[in-house]
Amino acid sequence: MKKTLLGTGFVLTLLFSPISQTFAAESTGELRQVDNVAHRGASGYAPENTMAAFDKAVDMKADYIEIDVQRSKDGELVIIHDTKVDRTTDGTGYVKDLTFEQLRSLDAGSFKGEQFAGEKIPTFDEILDRYHGKVGILIELKAPELYPGIEESVAEELKERNLEHPQNEKIIIQSFNFDSMKKMDSLLPKVPIGVLTSSKAHTTEQALTDFAVYADYFNPSYGIVTEDLVDQVHSLGMKISSWTVRSQVAADFLLDMDVDAIITDYPDYVDPRKTNYKSP
Ligand code: G3P
Ligand code: CA
Repeated sequence: MKKTLLGTGFVLTLLFSPISQTFAAESTGELRQVDNVAHRGASGYAPENTMAAFDKAVDMKADYIEIDVQRSKDGELVIIHDTKVDRTTDGTGYVKDLTFEQLRSLDAGSFKGEQFAGEKIPTFDEILDRYHGKVGILIELKAPELYPGIEESVAEELKERNLEHPQNEKIIIQSFNFDSMKKMDSLLPKVPIGVLTSSKAHTTEQALTDFAVYADYFNPSYGIVTEDLVDQVHSLGMKISSWTVRSQVAADFLLDMDVDAIITDYPDYVDPRKTNYKSP
Protein backbone atom coordinates (compact mmCIF):
# COMPACT_ATOMS: atom_id res chain seq x y z
CA MET A 1 0.00 0.00 0.00
CA LYS A 2 1.37 3.40 -1.03
CA LYS A 3 0.06 5.32 1.98
CA THR A 4 -0.12 3.91 5.48
CA LEU A 5 -2.83 5.67 7.45
CA LEU A 6 -5.94 4.34 5.73
CA GLY A 7 -8.16 2.40 8.06
CA THR A 8 -6.47 3.60 11.23
CA GLY A 9 -9.66 5.19 12.49
CA PHE A 10 -11.55 1.97 12.14
CA VAL A 11 -8.91 -0.01 14.02
CA LEU A 12 -9.24 2.47 16.90
CA THR A 13 -13.01 2.14 16.71
CA LEU A 14 -12.66 -1.63 16.93
CA LEU A 15 -10.54 -1.32 20.05
CA PHE A 16 -12.73 1.15 21.90
CA SER A 17 -16.30 0.83 20.63
CA PRO A 18 -18.58 -1.61 22.53
CA ILE A 19 -20.54 -2.31 19.33
CA SER A 20 -17.43 -3.13 17.36
CA GLN A 21 -16.11 -5.27 20.20
CA THR A 22 -19.28 -7.31 19.87
CA PHE A 23 -18.66 -7.73 16.16
CA ALA A 24 -15.06 -8.73 16.83
CA ALA A 25 -16.08 -11.27 19.46
CA GLU A 26 -18.52 -12.92 17.10
CA SER A 27 -15.82 -14.18 14.80
CA THR A 28 -12.12 -14.39 14.28
CA GLY A 29 -12.28 -13.51 10.58
CA GLU A 30 -11.26 -10.29 8.88
CA LEU A 31 -13.63 -7.46 9.72
CA ARG A 32 -13.78 -4.38 7.56
CA GLN A 33 -15.96 -1.32 7.49
CA VAL A 34 -17.68 -0.40 4.25
CA ASP A 35 -17.52 3.34 3.76
CA ASN A 36 -20.75 4.98 2.67
CA VAL A 37 -19.96 7.69 0.12
CA ALA A 38 -22.72 10.12 -0.86
CA HIS A 39 -22.29 10.65 -4.61
CA ARG A 40 -22.43 14.38 -5.41
CA GLY A 41 -23.97 14.53 -1.91
CA ALA A 42 -27.19 12.65 -1.21
CA SER A 43 -28.10 13.37 -4.80
CA GLY A 44 -31.04 10.98 -4.84
CA TYR A 45 -32.80 13.35 -2.44
CA ALA A 46 -31.46 16.83 -3.19
CA PRO A 47 -29.84 18.60 -6.15
CA GLU A 48 -26.41 17.10 -6.84
CA ASN A 49 -23.29 19.01 -5.82
CA THR A 50 -25.19 21.61 -3.76
CA MET A 51 -25.10 22.39 -0.04
CA ALA A 52 -28.59 20.88 0.21
CA ALA A 53 -27.24 17.54 -1.02
CA PHE A 54 -24.12 17.67 1.14
CA ASP A 55 -26.07 18.63 4.28
CA LYS A 56 -28.49 15.81 3.57
CA ALA A 57 -25.57 13.37 3.28
CA VAL A 58 -24.28 14.48 6.69
CA ASP A 59 -27.79 14.10 8.16
CA MET A 60 -27.92 10.60 6.70
CA LYS A 61 -24.61 9.72 8.39
CA ALA A 62 -22.62 9.17 5.21
CA ASP A 63 -18.90 8.63 5.82
CA TYR A 64 -17.89 10.77 2.84
CA ILE A 65 -19.37 13.27 0.42
CA GLU A 66 -18.18 13.02 -3.17
CA ILE A 67 -17.67 16.32 -5.04
CA ASP A 68 -16.76 17.20 -8.64
CA VAL A 69 -14.28 20.07 -8.94
CA GLN A 70 -13.96 22.29 -12.02
CA ARG A 71 -12.81 25.90 -12.59
CA SER A 72 -14.51 29.12 -13.70
CA LYS A 73 -13.16 31.35 -16.47
CA ASP A 74 -11.62 33.62 -13.84
CA GLY A 75 -10.00 30.86 -11.82
CA GLU A 76 -12.44 30.00 -9.01
CA LEU A 77 -12.68 26.29 -8.14
CA VAL A 78 -16.36 25.32 -8.29
CA ILE A 79 -18.38 22.19 -7.59
CA ILE A 80 -20.38 20.91 -10.55
CA HIS A 81 -20.43 17.61 -12.44
CA ASP A 82 -21.03 18.34 -16.14
CA THR A 83 -18.55 20.45 -18.09
CA LYS A 84 -21.61 22.48 -19.21
CA VAL A 85 -24.09 24.07 -16.82
CA ASP A 86 -27.15 23.26 -18.94
CA ARG A 87 -28.45 20.09 -17.25
CA THR A 88 -28.36 21.17 -13.61
CA THR A 89 -28.88 24.95 -13.77
CA ASP A 90 -30.97 27.56 -15.55
CA GLY A 91 -27.93 28.70 -17.54
CA THR A 92 -26.14 27.55 -20.67
CA GLY A 93 -22.53 27.11 -21.68
CA TYR A 94 -19.29 25.58 -20.51
CA VAL A 95 -18.18 26.04 -16.90
CA LYS A 96 -14.74 27.08 -18.16
CA ASP A 97 -16.25 29.91 -20.26
CA LEU A 98 -18.30 31.49 -17.44
CA THR A 99 -16.97 33.81 -14.74
CA PHE A 100 -17.55 32.96 -11.10
CA GLU A 101 -20.10 35.75 -10.87
CA GLN A 102 -22.00 34.28 -13.82
CA LEU A 103 -21.86 30.76 -12.36
CA ARG A 104 -22.92 31.96 -8.94
CA SER A 105 -25.98 33.74 -10.32
CA LEU A 106 -27.40 30.45 -11.63
CA ASP A 107 -30.11 28.41 -9.94
CA ALA A 108 -28.59 24.98 -9.32
CA GLY A 109 -31.55 23.59 -7.36
CA SER A 110 -34.77 23.94 -9.32
CA PHE A 111 -33.97 21.13 -11.75
CA LYS A 112 -34.49 18.73 -8.82
CA GLY A 113 -37.67 20.36 -7.53
CA GLU A 114 -39.16 23.75 -6.71
CA GLN A 115 -38.33 23.34 -3.02
CA PHE A 116 -34.64 23.60 -3.96
CA ALA A 117 -34.95 26.85 -5.94
CA GLY A 118 -32.08 29.21 -5.21
CA GLU A 119 -29.42 26.59 -4.42
CA LYS A 120 -26.11 27.86 -5.74
CA ILE A 121 -23.05 26.24 -7.28
CA PRO A 122 -20.68 25.94 -4.28
CA THR A 123 -16.98 26.76 -4.32
CA PHE A 124 -14.28 24.30 -3.32
CA ASP A 125 -13.31 26.62 -0.43
CA GLU A 126 -16.85 26.60 0.90
CA ILE A 127 -16.98 22.81 0.87
CA LEU A 128 -13.65 22.44 2.66
CA ASP A 129 -14.52 25.05 5.27
CA ARG A 130 -17.98 23.70 5.97
CA TYR A 131 -17.32 19.96 5.94
CA HIS A 132 -13.72 19.10 6.75
CA GLY A 133 -13.56 17.35 10.08
CA LYS A 134 -17.30 16.71 9.92
CA VAL A 135 -17.46 14.18 7.08
CA GLY A 136 -14.91 12.68 4.71
CA ILE A 137 -14.48 14.41 1.36
CA LEU A 138 -13.87 12.42 -1.84
CA ILE A 139 -12.62 15.06 -4.26
CA GLU A 140 -12.96 14.25 -7.96
CA LEU A 141 -11.06 16.39 -10.43
CA LYS A 142 -13.57 16.44 -13.27
CA ALA A 143 -12.03 16.78 -16.74
CA PRO A 144 -8.79 18.30 -15.38
CA GLU A 145 -7.42 18.34 -18.94
CA LEU A 146 -9.69 21.37 -19.51
CA TYR A 147 -8.13 23.24 -16.58
CA PRO A 148 -4.32 23.37 -16.79
CA GLY A 149 -2.83 23.83 -13.33
CA ILE A 150 -5.98 22.82 -11.43
CA GLU A 151 -3.95 20.23 -9.50
CA GLU A 152 -1.74 22.97 -8.01
CA SER A 153 -4.81 25.04 -7.07
CA VAL A 154 -6.46 22.09 -5.33
CA ALA A 155 -3.21 21.29 -3.49
CA GLU A 156 -2.92 24.92 -2.33
CA GLU A 157 -6.45 24.98 -0.92
CA LEU A 158 -5.79 21.78 1.02
CA LYS A 159 -2.43 23.01 2.31
CA GLU A 160 -3.98 26.29 3.51
CA ARG A 161 -6.14 24.19 5.82
CA ASN A 162 -3.39 21.74 6.80
CA LEU A 163 -5.24 18.98 5.00
CA GLU A 164 -2.18 17.69 3.15
CA HIS A 165 -1.46 15.35 6.09
CA PRO A 166 -4.92 13.87 6.51
CA GLN A 167 -4.25 11.67 9.57
CA ASN A 168 -7.51 12.54 11.23
CA GLU A 169 -9.31 14.04 8.26
CA LYS A 170 -10.74 11.84 5.58
CA ILE A 171 -9.64 13.35 2.27
CA ILE A 172 -9.20 11.38 -0.97
CA ILE A 173 -8.55 12.76 -4.47
CA GLN A 174 -9.68 10.82 -7.56
CA SER A 175 -10.07 11.26 -11.32
CA PHE A 176 -10.60 9.44 -14.60
CA ASN A 177 -7.49 11.32 -15.77
CA PHE A 178 -4.55 9.18 -14.64
CA ASP A 179 -1.82 11.68 -15.52
CA SER A 180 -3.59 14.24 -13.36
CA MET A 181 -3.61 11.77 -10.46
CA LYS A 182 0.11 11.01 -10.89
CA LYS A 183 0.70 14.75 -10.64
CA MET A 184 -1.59 15.06 -7.62
CA ASP A 185 0.35 12.28 -5.90
CA SER A 186 3.61 14.11 -6.44
CA LEU A 187 2.11 17.39 -5.15
CA LEU A 188 0.47 15.82 -2.08
CA PRO A 189 2.25 12.51 -1.40
CA LYS A 190 0.38 11.86 1.85
CA VAL A 191 -3.11 12.33 0.48
CA PRO A 192 -4.73 9.11 -0.80
CA ILE A 193 -5.25 9.02 -4.57
CA GLY A 194 -7.91 7.12 -6.54
CA VAL A 195 -8.20 6.20 -10.20
CA LEU A 196 -11.65 5.98 -11.75
CA THR A 197 -12.62 3.79 -14.67
CA SER A 198 -15.47 1.90 -16.24
CA SER A 199 -13.19 0.08 -18.66
CA LYS A 200 -12.24 -3.58 -18.33
CA ALA A 201 -9.04 -2.70 -20.17
CA HIS A 202 -7.89 -1.08 -16.94
CA THR A 203 -8.36 -4.27 -14.90
CA THR A 204 -5.44 -6.25 -16.34
CA GLU A 205 -2.64 -7.29 -13.99
CA GLN A 206 -0.30 -4.84 -15.72
CA ALA A 207 -2.74 -1.91 -15.56
CA LEU A 208 -3.48 -2.51 -11.88
CA THR A 209 0.22 -2.86 -11.07
CA ASP A 210 0.88 0.47 -12.80
CA PHE A 211 -1.91 2.18 -10.84
CA ALA A 212 -0.57 0.83 -7.54
CA VAL A 213 2.63 2.87 -7.96
CA TYR A 214 0.76 6.12 -7.26
CA ALA A 215 -2.80 5.21 -6.33
CA ASP A 216 -4.35 3.99 -3.08
CA TYR A 217 -7.78 3.35 -4.54
CA PHE A 218 -8.93 1.65 -7.74
CA ASN A 219 -12.50 2.90 -8.23
CA PRO A 220 -14.47 1.10 -10.96
CA SER A 221 -18.10 1.32 -12.03
CA TYR A 222 -19.95 -1.60 -10.47
CA GLY A 223 -20.62 -3.23 -13.83
CA ILE A 224 -17.01 -4.42 -14.02
CA VAL A 225 -16.62 -5.48 -10.37
CA THR A 226 -15.98 -9.17 -9.68
CA GLU A 227 -14.68 -11.01 -6.62
CA ASP A 228 -11.45 -11.69 -8.50
CA LEU A 229 -10.98 -8.00 -9.26
CA VAL A 230 -11.53 -7.06 -5.61
CA ASP A 231 -8.97 -9.69 -4.53
CA GLN A 232 -6.47 -8.51 -7.13
CA VAL A 233 -6.81 -4.87 -6.09
CA HIS A 234 -6.40 -5.80 -2.43
CA SER A 235 -3.39 -8.00 -3.15
CA LEU A 236 -1.70 -4.97 -4.73
CA GLY A 237 -2.29 -2.98 -1.53
CA MET A 238 -5.03 -0.75 -2.92
CA LYS A 239 -8.61 -0.30 -1.77
CA ILE A 240 -11.63 -0.40 -4.04
CA SER A 241 -14.60 1.99 -4.06
CA SER A 242 -17.33 1.39 -6.59
CA TRP A 243 -20.08 3.52 -8.16
CA THR A 244 -22.80 4.55 -8.79
CA VAL A 245 -25.39 2.82 -6.62
CA ARG A 246 -28.95 3.84 -7.37
CA SER A 247 -30.74 0.66 -6.23
CA GLN A 248 -30.76 -1.63 -3.20
CA VAL A 249 -29.81 -4.53 -5.49
CA ALA A 250 -26.65 -2.74 -6.60
CA ALA A 251 -25.74 -1.85 -3.00
CA ASP A 252 -26.21 -5.45 -1.90
CA PHE A 253 -24.15 -6.71 -4.84
CA LEU A 254 -21.23 -4.48 -3.84
CA LEU A 255 -21.53 -5.50 -0.18
CA ASP A 256 -21.27 -9.12 -1.35
CA MET A 257 -18.22 -8.27 -3.45
CA ASP A 258 -16.38 -7.02 -0.34
CA VAL A 259 -15.54 -3.59 -1.72
CA ASP A 260 -14.17 -1.01 0.71
CA ALA A 261 -16.55 1.81 -0.15
CA ILE A 262 -19.86 2.20 -1.94
CA ILE A 263 -20.48 5.44 -3.80
CA THR A 264 -24.23 6.01 -3.88
CA ASP A 265 -26.90 8.60 -4.65
CA TYR A 266 -28.90 7.02 -1.78
CA PRO A 267 -26.84 6.67 1.43
CA ASP A 268 -29.67 4.75 3.11
CA TYR A 269 -29.12 1.83 0.72
CA VAL A 270 -25.79 1.26 2.49
CA ASP A 271 -26.60 0.62 6.13
CA PRO A 272 -23.87 2.48 8.07
CA ARG A 273 -23.83 -0.26 10.69
CA LYS A 274 -23.38 -3.01 8.13
CA THR A 275 -19.90 -4.42 7.96
CA ASN A 276 -18.39 -6.55 5.32
CA TYR A 277 -17.36 -9.79 6.93
CA LYS A 278 -15.00 -12.10 5.13
CA SER A 279 -14.32 -15.59 6.44
CA PRO A 280 -10.69 -16.47 7.10
O1 G3P B 1 -17.14 8.86 -7.59
C1 G3P B 1 -17.38 8.14 -8.74
C2 G3P B 1 -18.21 8.84 -9.76
O2 G3P B 1 -18.47 10.15 -9.34
C3 G3P B 1 -17.63 8.86 -11.09
O3 G3P B 1 -18.55 9.21 -12.08
O4 G3P B 1 -19.58 10.73 -13.69
O5 G3P B 1 -20.54 10.54 -11.43
O6 G3P B 1 -18.40 11.72 -11.76
P1 G3P B 1 -19.29 10.61 -12.22
CA1 CA C 1 -17.93 12.38 -9.57
